[in-house]
Amino acid sequence: MIKFTVITLFPEAVEPYLKSSMMWKAARKGLAEFELVNLRDFGLGPHKSVDDTPYGGGDGMLLRCEPVFAAVESVKAKDSSAKVILPTPVGEIWNQKLARELAGVLSEPISSASGLEFSSTSYAGPRAESSLRNEPVRAVRNIRVENSNHFTMPRETGSATPAIHYIILCPHYEGYDERILSIVDYKISMGKYVLTGGELPALVIIDSVVRLIPGVLGGEKSAEIESFSEGNNLEYPQYTRPEDFRGMKVPEVLLSGNHGEIAKWRKEHERKA
Ligand code: ADE
Repeated sequence: MIKFTVITLFPEAVEPYLKSSMMWKAARKGLAEFELVNLRDFGLGPHKSVDDTPYGGGDGMLLRCEPVFAAVESVKAKDSSAKVILPTPVGEIWNQKLARELAGVLSEPISSASGLEFSSTSYAGPRAESSLRNEPVRAVRNIRVENSNHFTMPRETGSATPAIHYIILCPHYEGYDERILSIVDYKISMGKYVLTGGELPALVIIDSVVRLIPGVLGGEKSAEIESFSEGNNLEYPQYTRPEDFRGMKVPEVLLSGNHGEIAKWRKEHERKA
């Protein structure tokens, strides 16, 4: 069981994807849990303000500490083990190996910060020693928060506290107060380009991690392939009917029924994701 809490100013942008297809199925099966927290609920003053101008001048508005800390603390009050992910263009570039590590699908044993040893290819939780991890987290101040309308996706089966819980904090506008990094465990980038917010990265992270959770894809086949690929998702060209589409033909060997030859052909045409 893995849980993602997404703290965002735009829950309506995130919700439809989590309510569709495999993410929805994973939630219904009790394999994943999704919670959306509206950062606006923790805003300051009558306008529920969440941002302000930068000290020293400069363009744009920055996310303020108070609403962000309050939102994260409200989640951690229920599960202090939750780790905070900040999507940012200056984080570590997201890849399949990191997805596997966050999913707790490991090929090598690792030691946790608490000294627990996890066995190989197990579902072990987030890595303890990580280049992704931010500097040690400073003491978090207690900030009283008003009741907010948290939205939790319904599940078919009830389950205990999730084994792994990530809070994805979606920054918006032009940036965030640097002190917010003191409560961040992982800084993750989608690539060397700039998006308007953390919502798309949050969905990319969730999708690529949740599909690795055993049982989410239906069979164990895909997870199995990935466990051999050490994070490089091996792929080969695949075809379905018709055999001939507008003159583009399915390679003969795939129609031959010769499994040895088919395996050889696939191996020769493997490409890495
Ligand atoms: N926020 C804005 N741009 C981003 C990127 N490339 N990756 C992650 N978060 C971002």
